[in-house]
Amino acid sequence: EGGDPAAGEKIFHSCRQCHHIGRGATNFYGPVLNGLIDRPAGSVPGYNYSEANKTSGKVWDVPTLKSYLRQPQHDVPKTYMTFAGLKSDKDIADVIAYIAQYDRS
Ligand code: HEM
Repeated sequence: EGGDPAAGEKIFHSCRQCHHIGRGATNFYGPVLNGLIDRPAGSVPGYNYSEANKTSGKVWDVPTLKSYLRQPQHDVPKTYMTFAGLKSDKDIADVIAYIAQYDRS
């Protein structure tokens, strides 16, 4: 939704220490992010999620992600994701556009 995937690739450097994405990517410290858009929270097979994430009831559509990436611990209290969040609306839109390029492969 208006984000720039090329700019988002640079923002994704701050995610890559925990998440992998792209062809052949698998779960790492965090769950693999292929196929993220519209995926129910806590649904990647073989990844050991927190109860908090699994029972959050969230579906990772764009508006839900925009909020979560700004304030993960606020939106999913007790999440295992210790990332502080992104502060800029543009960075958030761009990283979502980058992630949205990758389907489940
Ligand atoms: C979970 C995105 C940065 C560690 C998640 C989820 C999303 C996400 C959408 C939920 C996935 C699901 O329910 O399947 C991102 C993005 C990041 C980022 C876009 C960068 C902007 C990080 C960083 C870390 C991290 C830097 C490690 C310090 C985790 C962990 C979980 C998680 C451990 C599982 C949470 C749980 O089970 O409670 N991330 N993340 N993430 N992320 Fe991140």
